[in-house]
Amino acid sequence: MKINVLKNYKELSSTVADIVETQIKKHPLSKLCLPTGSTPLGMYDELVNKKLDWKSVITFNLDVYLMNITRPQSYQSYMKKNLFDRTNIYPDHSHFPFRPFSAFEDKIDGTNQTDFMNTTMGIDLCILGIGSNGHIAFNEPGSSFKSRTRLVNLDEQTIIDNARFFDSVDDVPTQAITMGLGTIMDSKKIVLMVNGLKKKSILNQAILGIITEDIPASILQKHKNVEVYYCD
Ligand code: PGA
Repeated sequence: MKINVLKNYKELSSTVADIVETQIKKHPLSKLCLPTGSTPLGMYDELVNKKLDWKSVITFNLDVYLMNITRPQSYQSYMKKNLFDRTNIYPDHSHFPFRPFSAFEDKIDGTNQTDFMNTTMGIDLCILGIGSNGHIAFNEPGSSFKSRTRLVNLDEQTIIDNARFFDSVDDVPTQAITMGLGTIMDSKKIVLMVNGLKKKSILNQAILGIITEDIPASILQKHKNVEVYYCD
């Protein structure tokens, strides 16, 4: 696992945006897996400013809240506002976890597809954040390392952490649909973005500690192509 410590948030954002740019320029038909939350906001701004050609890119978001998707806090609204409405990506090419979950997994996998655009098998590049409890996507502590896309109950810590995006903690959805740890681990390359001292301890546990389902991100130690980008 390659661990890179960057000077500040700006450098974290531009470094990861450069990785996405390289991927898209090298393979215009790439399948990307994308995160939400506060950490990737700067990276999306940097990406938009690059004015890349997104028309052949296919994206999959890591997770969605179970909520009205037209509300500003939904991850569908977040992606529209921060990336999709600011690029030439085709709406049909941006996917959020959907039911039946097996069909979503098939879409990622690229097998059983007749869609001529869907030529790549699996996720080429997956960008991740980490939660304060060690979650990746909404795979909360205790999630099986073999898990696939599914409906989950959010951890109390996640609800508290994410209350800052809502009017009150009672307004935070309690359920979500998330890609599984097994789904994420099938990605060809994974980039983990971590911003701030408050995440340093959980990051250390995840990348240097024992591999345990109590710290979902610790499974990344078993992936052969993971890069971690951290700034204080
Ligand atoms: P954050 O969330 O970027 O808002 O800290 C990360 C996560 O929960 O995965």
